[in-house]
Amino acid sequence: MPEHVLAVNGSPRADKGIVDLVLQRFLAGCRNAGATTETLYLSKLNIEACKGELGCFFTQRKTCEVFPNDDGNAAVAAFAAADRVVLASPLHVYGISSHLVRFAERLISLGAPELAVNDGVWTHPGSTKPHRPCAVVGVCAFPGAHNFVLFREIMTTLQKVFWLAPSGSVLVPMSRDLSFLDPRHPRHAEHVRILSASERAGEEFMRDGAIAPETEREISRPTAAMETLIEAFEGYFSALRTRA
Ligand SMILES: Cc1cc2nc3c(=O)[nH]c(=O)nc-3n(C[C@H](O)[C@H](O)[C@H](O)COP(=O)(O)O)c2cc1C
Repeated sequence: MPEHVLAVNGSPRADKGIVDLVLQRFLAGCRNAGATTETLYLSKLNIEACKGELGCFFTQRKTCEVFPNDDGNAAVAAFAAADRVVLASPLHVYGISSHLVRFAERLISLGAPELAVNDGVWTHPGSTKPHRPCAVVGVCAFPGAHNFVLFREIMTTLQKVFWLAPSGSVLVPMSRDLSFLDPRHPRHAEHVRILSASERAGEEFMRDGAIAPETEREISRPTAAMETLIEAFEGYFSALRTRA
């Protein structure tokens, strides 16, 4: 029976965004290694913000009864059923997108109302299979992988809170560059390299249980000298300002 990978895409631009461009190559790699895959586009779902009543938690019914008819319970059920998980988000104000935050809040319904500690992170006992492999996909606009410091920390903490096994990250800075998948672009060969490495990361995630550190470094490596990237970044901004 093939393993089923659930990708949770928190980009507000859903299947039109750069998160999805990178994520779909990663999932292609998972399929190359024999998995079945599914993507939840959170911004296309109606998932209300948690009201904080914690009924789901204290009654142990494992579903939200405040919003029984939005898409949150089905999204949580899909998460609970998957063999492996991918958490994907753009960098938003140095953190994760609000769509992914809402989804994470609704995952609380899977927990039990006792205290538990998972690898130094305080949480609650979960009801899903523990330590399912979980990869992270993230993109950001600014050049330089150093921009992902807080993002990484948030993702690792989420993984531990929900009893997932951190199994590597695909982190792509300077995301706007990738929207020009044009052979005439001066960094086209680099963009092809990043997307190929993302596919390889998906294969490693399935085959070895984790993305190799060299693959992670290859994906996040700057595509040119920092001065060149800063100049290009400012060029994008001034082009957008002119159009507005
Ligand atoms: C509300 C908001 C906040 C953002 N904050 C950051 C940020 O802190 N650092 C950064 O490098 N990019 C930031 N970005 C840019 C996005 O990470 C970038 O455009 C990314 O490609 C968006 O992914 P998408 O194409 O899937 O929507 C932000 C974008 C938005 C809309």
